[in-house]
Amino acid sequence: MFPPTPSDKSGVLVRRLIATVAGTTLAAATLAASILVASQEASAIGGVTLRQFAGDRAVGAAIAAHHYNNDASYRNLANTEFNSVTAENEMKWESLEPSENSYNWGPADQIVNNARTNNQRIRGHTLVWHSQYPRWLDSYSGTAVQTRVQEHIQTVMSRWRGQIYEWDVVNEPFEENGSYRNSIFYRAWGGNGYIAQAFRWADAVDPNARLCINDYNIEGINAKSDAMYNLVRQLLQQGVPIDCVGFQAHFIVGQVPSTLEQNLQRFAALGVSIHITELDVRIEGPVDNNELQQQARDFERVFRACWAIPNCTGVTQWGVSDQYSWVDGTFPPYTAPLMISSSYQAKPAYTAVINFLRGTSSGPTGGPTTGGPTTGGPTTGGPTTDAPQGACRVEYTVVNQWPDGFTASINIVNTGSSPINGWTLRFTFPNGQSVSHGWNANWSQSGSTVTAENAPWNGTLPPGVVVNIGFNGLWSGVNNEPTSFTLNNNSCTVV
Ligand code: XIL
Repeated sequence: MFPPTPSDKSGVLVRRLIATVAGTTLAAATLAASILVASQEASAIGGVTLRQFAGDRAVGAAIAAHHYNNDASYRNLANTEFNSVTAENEMKWESLEPSENSYNWGPADQIVNNARTNNQRIRGHTLVWHSQYPRWLDSYSGTAVQTRVQEHIQTVMSRWRGQIYEWDVVNEPFEENGSYRNSIFYRAWGGNGYIAQAFRWADAVDPNARLCINDYNIEGINAKSDAMYNLVRQLLQQGVPIDCVGFQAHFIVGQVPSTLEQNLQRFAALGVSIHITELDVRIEGPVDNNELQQQARDFERVFRACWAIPNCTGVTQWGVSDQYSWVDGTFPPYTAPLMISSSYQAKPAYTAVINFLRGTSSGPTGGPTTGGPTTGGPTTGGPTTDAPQGACRVEYTVVNQWPDGFTASINIVNTGSSPINGWTLRFTFPNGQSVSHGWNANWSQSGSTVTAENAPWNGTLPPGVVVNIGFNGLWSGVNNEPTSFTLNNNSCTVV
């Protein structure tokens, strides 16, 4: 099950876990009952699911372990509709270490394990945040706080090293006017130095995880997003290992900022990836149909804005359904902020989003809508070699394995400096394995040699961009990974 995936910190090859292979006859026939309970579980709200049309991106949800355990409808939708999960509270410092040096890993571990069972990627949330840290930390100041932050980052990130593709390392560092929040961390460092330091410590623990800074009210262009933009630019200039910016996106219906697209694009242009990390669109109760229609337009707009940007890694909504959203308790009389209703029905927002995703996707071909983001983290600073067409890097991962079958994911990156137009990947199975069903490419096998030719929609491979393909295969005895790959007859670096 899910061996840790080697990946490339530059972000070009990030860790990705493959989404569920749902619904293909061949896959279903091949996959014995032992595989993936979730892949055989139908979504409670329809024949198709959001994740089937997610392409390379994350369509995620924040998950609460106790609702997951106690509410079968919640659990069903969490498993079937989304390909990425964030722990709503379980990975926060106060949840993990309620008294000093005494850890409560259970609920967070459970979220991680459930996500892996359901072939979902995991966003880690959050390491350094002025809120929901344990009260005992307040008895320290200065270097004593610094030491505890370092220990916290090391302990928590080590626990799930290799399993979390994206971490919110620093959360909500700014005030609304763009000044730094006077948090315990700001005070302990005597300034904003805690931010760079947290990213450096985080990078040292899990160099393959994508490291994000996350905040709210930075979705449009304003004083706060300007401050974030300037900070991220400076951190990149200083060589701080920051890979991504998270935009929480806690919106009021009809009030998605007009500058959303422009703002996301300016961040992406810095060379970081971006993620809409906590989307909800709250409505003042009682809710009427016009508001639900406006909410649908708002949701679609956010997905569209992300999907327009190659290095937007996806959209996570903050909860599974309206039933347990934090909004009702936090912003009364606002309510009903998500795509799925409190009775677990698709709302207009769900329909708008699935239709949008469908329009951008080649459809549920039976292939998993793939794992990670399409492009990597910072594109700055990397070597640009003039490699010949076909120069490539390949990451082959067995993402799931059962007694006679397995699922493999292959990321291919064009490491050259010009686009590759039309590609053929070849490799040889070392132990007599065979491909039974592949996706995102035209697959064939002759003897032990496997050929994957680009699908019509992914034949152009710009420099630095990842294309993800995958297959279900058969094995017996040993299931070693192929060790050499060629792309258009040029051999690839294997990571
Ligand atoms: C919220 C949770 O949804 C609530 O259950 C909890 O009581 C408070 O925190 N920004 C964040 C999230 O980064 O962690 C917050 O989550 C919402 C605002």
